[in-house]
Amino acid sequence: MNRIVSSEANELDNQIELSLRPERLSQYIGQHQVKDNLKIFIEAAKFRQESLDHVLLYGPPGLGKTTLANVIANELDVNIRLTSGPAIERPGDLAAIVSSLEPGDVLFIDEIHRLSRSIEEVLYPAMEDFCLDIVVGKGHDARSIRLDLPPFTLVGATTRVGSLSAPLRDRFGVLLRLDYYDEHSLIEIVKRSSKLFEVEIDDRAAEEIARRSRGTPRIANRLLKRVRDYAQVIGDGMITLDLAKQALELLQVDRYGLDQIDHKLLRSMIVQFNGGPVGLDTLAASIGEERITIEDVYEPYLMQIGFIQRTPRGRVATKLAFEHLGYTYYDETK
Ligand code: ADE
Repeated sequence: MNRIVSSEANELDNQIELSLRPERLSQYIGQHQVKDNLKIFIEAAKFRQESLDHVLLYGPPGLGKTTLANVIANELDVNIRLTSGPAIERPGDLAAIVSSLEPGDVLFIDEIHRLSRSIEEVLYPAMEDFCLDIVVGKGHDARSIRLDLPPFTLVGATTRVGSLSAPLRDRFGVLLRLDYYDEHSLIEIVKRSSKLFEVEIDDRAAEEIARRSRGTPRIANRLLKRVRDYAQVIGDGMITLDLAKQALELLQVDRYGLDQIDHKLLRSMIVQFNGGPVGLDTLAASIGEERITIEDVYEPYLMQIGFIQRTPRGRVATKLAFEHLGYTYYDETK
């Protein structure tokens, strides 16, 4: 099943998504505080002809961290190298990447919280002093040599800033938190993407898709693509409100943007665990999902809309969640 909320899209979806990505700050919709800050830091770095200080982007998946890293490189007029925490297995892998950078380049490391400690150790002097300490030789002959690197900007991205080690976090000069997009920004994104797709969409249909996108542009664009398929096969190609609603119904995305997995999760909390509190591992096992998927993908949005609360004894489903799923709320404290 091609899950709408999934953070992994297929290859074609990835290519289409790339073409939808804004390339400059002026095209980037939403995240005003992040943009306003970046604009100043980028301009100052360019004015001083220095590399931009290292940037850490954090927040839920799908909010445009990779897009923003590309935008930063474009605005700085430098190249970008993209890699990820799990892809860097040995210190030598990182050494090979950083030593091939041009002065001022951006190195983007996605899922930076997944870097191993031994790689982090190599990264510290690279970030701080633009040099690498490499051990050559073995046993008695082992010695450390220092290699100078060109100044570069590390842009790190993570969905779990709390999992970053303190020494690594402290070496970023700019920390930017991406938050869920408001409806207005998502409407603009849906309209911009429709224009790029050359598909006509009426305002109310764009609003409907935006409202069901869980504050996430990646989901908005994915829903738009599916609604466009529906419009081209069932309708005359134009996306109207009625048609968007029908298509979203078929996709089983409800009016809050919740899909079957969200429903399964909430129903399990309500029916099996009396609304909670229930531990995350117990919940994950009961619905057959990975704990990390629940924690990183589903739960943050359900908390944001007030359907789930985190308590010291576990997760609790709120009155809103009970009512949305059609259950009567029973408050034990009353
Ligand atoms: N497409 C995906 N995210 C976007 C954003 N923040 N602004 C413009 N287009 C986008």
